[in-house]
Amino acid sequence: MNLKNKVAVITGGASGIGAGVAVELAKLGVKVVLGDMNEEGLNAKVTEIRKNGGEAIAVKTNVSQEADVIKLMDTAMETYGAINIVVPSAGIFRDAFMVNPDRETGKVFKSMSTSQFMDVINVNLLGTFLTIREASIRMIDNKCEGVLFTISSINKEGQLGQLNYSSTKASVALWPKILSGEFHAKNIKGIRVVGIAPGYVETPLLLGMKPEVLESIVKDVTIGRLVKIDEIVSALIFAIQNEAVTGTTLEITGGVISRGLVK
Ligand SMILES: NC(=O)c1ccc[n+]([C@@H]2O[C@H](COP(=O)([O-])OP(=O)(O)OC[C@H]3O[C@@H](n4cnc5c(N)ncnc54)[C@H](O)[C@@H]3O)[C@@H](O)[C@H]2O)c1
Repeated sequence: MNLKNKVAVITGGASGIGAGVAVELAKLGVKVVLGDMNEEGLNAKVTEIRKNGGEAIAVKTNVSQEADVIKLMDTAMETYGAINIVVPSAGIFRDAFMVNPDRETGKVFKSMSTSQFMDVINVNLLGTFLTIREASIRMIDNKCEGVLFTISSINKEGQLGQLNYSSTKASVALWPKILSGEFHAKNIKGIRVVGIAPGYVETPLLLGMKPEVLESIVKDVTIGRLVKIDEIVSALIFAIQNEAVTGTTLEITGGVISRGLVK
């Protein structure tokens, strides 16, 4: 698919991967609609894109709220008349072991709270569902061709302390297979579904970690460093341009050695 004059809706567009995708797509002539809860960050990205000569608008959006996502998609259609590329990059983690027994007594003194579990489900899973569903309805009804992405993670394989996060990322890694099959079954043409599973990427989400945690993460990356945002962005652009890529999740990880899990 040619990128020029296409329309992309990107959630989590104020920071990290979403912001990187938005800036690069806009440089290639894509009109971008950015959704995020962080209004200040959104406005800064829109200003940056316009300064580079690109077209962009921002819509303050909480992806776990249906009405917000509907407004985001309606604004995209009203402003640019199409939706062709959808990148649900809004995501959070709230890491904790499910249960923590005290070393001396052996009794559980702390456990993952229901809100720690549900907050991650609501943003990463429900948010992705609402974004993709509302975009699909408008793409089908308005005969827009394009690509729906899901943003998974290397931790779709399972990660200690991420029962919540890994569950969401394993789930959305399956969606390209399910949804491209459903579209085929319903004779919906021209909409591909592709998952992107990044490894450990140099974004605020990761750089906010304690230095010793970050160091131990990098030790397990075979390329010896974090993945760069640009490396995720170029995989996304490759998937948009190559029309044979659909129904699959691409891993862009730098080769991560996993440990601690029972295999
Ligand atoms: N950074 C990594 O190493 C890495 C690895 C694998 C997967 N991912 C995934 O990539 C995606 C982007 O991560 P990132 O590293 O760019 O993170 P980031 O923290 O830099 O950006 C995430 C953005 O999502 C926004 N957001 C959070 N909750 C929201 C909500 N309810 N509604 C709307 N916006 C909301 C935040 O304001 C932020 O701007 C996430 O889904 C993350 O799980 C990241």
